[in-house]
Amino acid sequence: MPQLSSHIDSVPPSGIRRIFEMALALDDVLMLAVGEPDVDVAPEILTAGSDAWLADETDYGPNGGLPALREALVRKLARENGVVVDTEQVWVTCGGMQALYLAMSLALGPGDEVLIPDPGYSTFAMNAAMISAVSVSYPLRRDNAFLPDFDELTRLVTPRTRMIIINSPSNPLGAIFPEETLRALVEFARQHDLWILSDEVYEAFSYESPHVSVASLDADDRVFSVFSLSKTYALTGARVGYLVTPPGLSTIMRTAQEAMISCVNTPAQLAALVAVEGDQQHVKTAALHYRQNLDAATALLRQRGIEYLQPSGAFYLWVNVGYATGGDVAGWAERFLLEKRVAVAPGSAFGRGGEGWIRICVAAGLDDLLEGVRRLPEPERHETDAQATARDGISVRLARADEHDEIARQRLEAYRLDFTIGDDYAVQILDVPHHAAIGEVWVAVDDATGRILGSVTTPRPGELLTPLGRPGEFDFRLLAVDPASRGRRVGSILTDFVIDLARERGAERVVMNSGTEMTTAHGLYERRGFSRMSDRENPPGIEPSRAYGLELSQRRATTD
Ligand SMILES: Cc1ncc(COP(=O)(O)O)c(C=O)c1O
Repeated sequence: MPQLSSHIDSVPPSGIRRIFEMALALDDVLMLAVGEPDVDVAPEILTAGSDAWLADETDYGPNGGLPALREALVRKLARENGVVVDTEQVWVTCGGMQALYLAMSLALGPGDEVLIPDPGYSTFAMNAAMISAVSVSYPLRRDNAFLPDFDELTRLVTPRTRMIIINSPSNPLGAIFPEETLRALVEFARQHDLWILSDEVYEAFSYESPHVSVASLDADDRVFSVFSLSKTYALTGARVGYLVTPPGLSTIMRTAQEAMISCVNTPAQLAALVAVEGDQQHVKTAALHYRQNLDAATALLRQRGIEYLQPSGAFYLWVNVGYATGGDVAGWAERFLLEKRVAVAPGSAFGRGGEGWIRICVAAGLDDLLEGVRRLPEPERHETDAQATARDGISVRLARADEHDEIARQRLEAYRLDFTIGDDYAVQILDVPHHAAIGEVWVAVDDATGRILGSVTTPRPGELLTPLGRPGEFDFRLLAVDPASRGRRVGSILTDFVIDLARERGAERVVMNSGTEMTTAHGLYERRGFSRMSDRENPPGIEPSRAYGLELSQRRATTD
């Protein structure tokens, strides 16, 4: 047999496929390893596809995709992504994967360097190797809240660097880069004159804030954006995605498409058209399902003292099992599969930074998911406090008296940022010793540095904190986050902690009274499922407030 090309051996194999194939050979495996949506495809999409086959829509189509589909995508991009383009900038591809490959092969030649996230989707490095480009990992570290470190990024740039890949919402992290990080990445790319390849295939699953498309922040035509129908509409096998390019590339795009695939299969494109133009309720229902699964799985992980990164997008959970893996999570994942019959993706499949972590796909039935999480080994517990919770390197515990001043300082600062209050008023409501006397003051603490990141006051067991509370309620107050710890989701961690504590103590409803203008906090409560309670305004003359309530019975029981 003749020899294969010299670079082909450098293409790294997929570390997920191995687990997947091992799992297929076994019986009764709980499959939490692959990013396959578990929801049904909307019937009108299936009908459109099958009608197209029956009508013999099987001829070659245009390289860029069916005009009607491209036009529908142009409208969708303007409406949902804030990205205004013409049809010649939208290229229908064979899944997001071919869009990635297409953009990389247009922008990168042999030896050119591309910055890829670590942990990151394994196809990025595989594609680079396929075209003899060099992938250079930029670490997303736990102690930097899994965000890029710009000093480090700058050090990684060489004269050969041509492109940076951004993937938000992220596979495998389930994390979303805040808009200011995306803006800073665009600025970084501008400074070093790099292409940006923005993989947004999980755009439909953004739980904390609306999805932000990198191209909407781009001022000088350096962004290629990758989208896909695979995850959004549970159409992974239909193989329809699209690449959005800067303007002026249509001639070369047409040639590249012709060389690679000519065009995407027509029945799949006709089904995609119905998906994009049709009612999006099933997408919202799928997002709610993933969100509920994430909530339930994270509650169980917290209860078991297993660290994880608070997910804010996609349908993955990034879980630290480093205490059990002895530095070889890939080997551990295989043993876990063979012994416990649960397939999870080893973090090392996503880069060196993933050692010690696993990715759990929550696009599964809730019972399977929770059973899979239950079979994970538990870390040794060092804390005795039943309420202590840990995630993203943050623990929640009762405040000590010597921390009251620092808590008051942070509360004042947080409140000043959201709305300005007079000092008298501040002294009154930020009086932490008073809070500690009438209730319990909890702090979120950075495990690595011991620094206080935020605080919340809750009622003592069986009591109410304020006269506005009613029997059976858990009326917490004054959730404040140190503005310096923005981006670490301290507010979400403390809110979830309060919900868990309320449930643990048998409350029927969690109620939060907050200042009328605390809009940041209101958004946080609403995203956690709280709704506005119109019957709980403070009487005139007393501090103005706005109440939010969450019925605990409405939320899925998470720890059974
Ligand atoms: C980050 C990311 N990008 C792209 C893809 C490609 O998906 P598809 O080719 O099915 O659109 C995936 C699939 O898992 C993914 O996780």
